[in-house]
Amino acid sequence: MNVLGSECLQPVGPGVWSGEIGIPQGLTPLDWIGKEPLIQALNNMGEAELPFALDDLVVEQMKDCTILRMPLLEDEPLYGLGLQFLRMNHRGRTRYLRVNSDPKQDTGETHAPVPFLVSARGYGIMVDTSNIVTFHCGSTIRRENQHPSDSRNRNTDSSWKATLVSRCVEIRLPSEGCRVLLFAGPTVIDAVRRYNLWCGGGTLPPRWGLGFWHRVPKLYTDEETIEEAEEFRRRGFPCDVIGLEPGWHSRSYPVTYEWSHELFRDPASFVKRMEQQGFRINLWEHPYVSPEAKQHARLEPYAGSHTVWGGLVPDYTLPEAQHIYKMQHEEEHLRIGVSGYKHDECDGSELTNHAWMFPAHAAFPSGHDGEQIRQLYGLLFQKMSDDMYRKHNRRTYGLVRASNAAASSMPYVLYSDLYDHRQFVRALCSSSFSGLLWSPEVRKANDQEDWVRRMQTVCFSPLAMLNAWGDGTKPWSYPEVEGIIRHYLELRMRLLPYLYTAFARYRFEGIPPFRAMPLVEGYAEASIAYHRASVSAKETLNTSDAAYGRAGLREWDDQYAVGDDLLVAPLFAGESSRDVLLPSGGWYGFETGEYYEGGQVVRITCGLEQIPVFVREGAVIPMMPAITNVPHPAGTVPVEWCHFGDVPGVGLLYDDDGETFDYETGQCSWVKAKVYRDDSGSWSGMQQVERTVRVHRSYFHGETSWKFGLVRI
Ligand code: GAL
Repeated sequence: MNVLGSECLQPVGPGVWSGEIGIPQGLTPLDWIGKEPLIQALNNMGEAELPFALDDLVVEQMKDCTILRMPLLEDEPLYGLGLQFLRMNHRGRTRYLRVNSDPKQDTGETHAPVPFLVSARGYGIMVDTSNIVTFHCGSTIRRENQHPSDSRNRNTDSSWKATLVSRCVEIRLPSEGCRVLLFAGPTVIDAVRRYNLWCGGGTLPPRWGLGFWHRVPKLYTDEETIEEAEEFRRRGFPCDVIGLEPGWHSRSYPVTYEWSHELFRDPASFVKRMEQQGFRINLWEHPYVSPEAKQHARLEPYAGSHTVWGGLVPDYTLPEAQHIYKMQHEEEHLRIGVSGYKHDECDGSELTNHAWMFPAHAAFPSGHDGEQIRQLYGLLFQKMSDDMYRKHNRRTYGLVRASNAAASSMPYVLYSDLYDHRQFVRALCSSSFSGLLWSPEVRKANDQEDWVRRMQTVCFSPLAMLNAWGDGTKPWSYPEVEGIIRHYLELRMRLLPYLYTAFARYRFEGIPPFRAMPLVEGYAEASIAYHRASVSAKETLNTSDAAYGRAGLREWDDQYAVGDDLLVAPLFAGESSRDVLLPSGGWYGFETGEYYEGGQVVRITCGLEQIPVFVREGAVIPMMPAITNVPHPAGTVPVEWCHFGDVPGVGLLYDDDGETFDYETGQCSWVKAKVYRDDSGSWSGMQQVERTVRVHRSYFHGETSWKFGLVRI
């Protein structure tokens, strides 16, 4: 047994340590994404210590793997590990981090498993590898650590528990070796920020990416698509992006990446016409190349030993294969104005009646095996397509169904064929610990109520999308509730300046724009107080019960923050009231104006016409009119600073051209809005340009107005 300790793990940045265990094999997520850590932003966060000594980490070489062991406190919840649908706190569970599109059990397998674990004690550990890693999150007890009370008589002892308290994390690492990184806090969100900044910062979508998205049925023609898009405008429903599904390819499953001239007679004019009406086109694709594709023969030397659906599985870790993919996509899609992709099915499935994927033993010309390529496949597509757009100084924003570590800077949002609304909200929460974004996309609903509840949630998510590929649903499909849907699509547009600013903070400071509750200040105190109160009737609260999420204690994985000042607590079909945990401070119902004292759990009741959203007292939120789409090229919009409540406050507004990467060379600005009481005691507002490095084409700098002391929007 070796102490991993200080001679292996070296400080590499403020609050970041890195070291190699054995000899890392193959391409790793950090190498592939290849972004420089944002050292200046890390410096601004300052140095921080880990809550344990480096020498507390031990490594043990086993016959076919390496085990890394680290200590745990009894009351330490564990978060992260990527997009997780079934649990947010992994304490007491084993997580097998394999890419899989159809996880049916709570094993850790998912579209986007990320070997980055974050502790409520305020630190994180990342394993940078293309192999599958298993995290035993306090789910294993070694003989030497067993406590006498671990062995109880279940026949007579009602306190017997199946999941015992373990005081260590054991991580099963690839046997050849890998790189391990540690990120200090001191708080949970600080550890997440350091991880994001080390991976190159968060992504900043083009401004249009934050508008509404609609995907048309899979075999729609150009005319049908245009007709549907025009219907949005006629009805005045916001929409910025139209997504095309498999039918646009001349052959699909496997795909050609070439336009079907039967359905799209003149793709260039189609894309242009859509653009003139303010719609961006997003193209669906998957990785498996049809024998009918022009690039098939060229890709053959660079493909793996196995096929999927009769298509080649190219080895995109090879520059030659990347080149072929990029050249064709640039020429046939980017050049005519396509705005981005939905990279589907780069994950694989083992469902009994629906199994497809190349095997783990598949051989690839680069020397990687099937396990490694499957773990990396989603990342390979994200980086290749982002590179293509970067080369043309255009930002893209799109969808991807598989991801891994180091993805925070990638302009991609995850989605799934799974469709449980509650799980979709949990996924939004869980992904925020690992530099991932998630869309709880809406498809057909069980009924009108389910439809409204899902549409309300999606409007408060990283990508607001109706995915009608299979059912042809439209925002106005349920006429009786059309007004509610329109209202939330419009509210999303009104919040665009606020959302864009939250993403800019993700980009530059690593702060997730959408945050699970443990990432929100004041959460831990409020949740512990609630745990205490709720178990007091049942005599004692065991701190480990809270950490293990036992005895029905809530994780609050059904509510989340958007930016610093909004808190969203969705309702699900069949519910008209729920508990909401409000962090300390005063809060207002964003649309009801009702005041709530934070630091506690409140019970709210709400009709179908509203989703419970709360705004922090003192918040100063930049809003704009509910236009139907972000104009191209950017014009300007008037901004209204909305101040809430009875205390002074400060708001932020980030601005740039909204479309290019010029902001990276400083062509952007930050405006701070201060709301205060003037000498006469009435509210006053003042805008200050915080930072404009170089002049840029601005969007939010039209006319500015103020609303003071609001209690609701
Ligand atoms: C699925 C995807 C759906 C839709 C469909 C088209 O894999 O998750 O959103 O795109 O393919 O065949």
